Amino acid sequence: MAAAREAAVASGDGARPRHVAIIMDGNGRWATERGWPRLVGHRRGAERVKQIVRACPDLGVDWLTIYAFSTENWKRSTEEVLGLMKIFRRYIEREAVGMSAEGVRMRFIGGRERLDPKLQALMAAIEARTAGNTRLNLTVAINYGGRDEILRASTRLAEKIAAGEVAQPSESDLAACMDTADQPDPDLVIRTSGETRTSNFLPWQAAYAEYEFTPTLWPDFTPDHLSTILDRFGMRDRRFGGV
Ligand code: IPE
Ligand code: IPE
Ligand code: MG
Repeated sequence: MAAAREAAVASGDGARPRHVAIIMDGNGRWATERGWPRLVGHRRGAERVKQIVRACPDLGVDWLTIYAFSTENWKRSTEEVLGLMKIFRRYIEREAVGMSAEGVRMRFIGGRERLDPKLQALMAAIEARTAGNTRLNLTVAINYGGRDEILRASTRLAEKIAAGEVAQPSESDLAACMDTADQPDPDLVIRTSGETRTSNFLPWQAAYAEYEFTPTLWPDFTPDHLSTILDRFGMRDRRFGGV
C-alpha cells in the first residue's frame, strides 16, 4: 500500500494530491475584523466547507480531512463551544441528504465520549448512511488531538498484545488502532490564516505530508485558492527518504 501510494504521487511530475487535510483556521479573526461575534465567522466557515467539499472531486482529490474542533478548543468560552457544537449538528442534519446524493462518504475522527449524545448519534447515523459512497471520502476531526489519538491507540494496542493477538508490534499494528485505521495518510496539509503550526493535527499520519501555509482566513478560502495550491503540489519533489 505504502509503495503504491508513493508511486501515485511521484515527485515533480504534476501529480495531484489524492488526500488533502486542512486546518481551517481564522474564523474568529475574520469576524472580529468586521466587528462581528466570532460565531458569525464559524457560520461562514461552515458555508466554505460545503463549497470546498463540492469542489474536491473535480480537483482530483478523493480524500479530504478537515480539522473542525481540537481537544484544546474546549478552553474557549462556553458560548463559543456550544455555538460550534450547534453548527456541527446543523451541518450534519442539513447536509445528510445532499452528501448521500453527491456520493460523499462521511467519517469522524477524535474522541466521541465527551460530545453531546445527540451529536454522537447524528455522527453515527451519517457514517452509516454514507458508508457505500465512493466519490469523495470526507473525514471530519471533532474533539480531535493527535496526542490523544496516539494515547488511545496505544492503549488499544496494549490490550491486543495482552490478549495475544499481536506479538511483536509493528508500525502498521499501531496504525490499525488509530481513528484513521482504514484511511490513507494525507499527501498535503494546508493551514489557513497565516499561522505556521500544526496544533496537534495528524502528527502520526502526516509524518511525510507536504505542508502549505496560506495567509487567507478560512471564510475567504475558495475552491480557486485550493486549486492553486494543488497545482503547486505537482512541482514538489517527494523523496520519502530516498534520493
Ligand atoms: C478555526 O478558527 C475554527 C476552530 C478552531 C473551531 P478560529 O476560531 O481558531 O479563528 P481564529 O484563529 O481565532 O481567527
Ligand atoms: C486549530 O486551530 C484547530 C482547528 C482548526 C479546529 P486553533 O486556532 O485552535 O489553533 P491554535 O490555538 O492557534 O494553535
Ligand atoms: Mg485559530
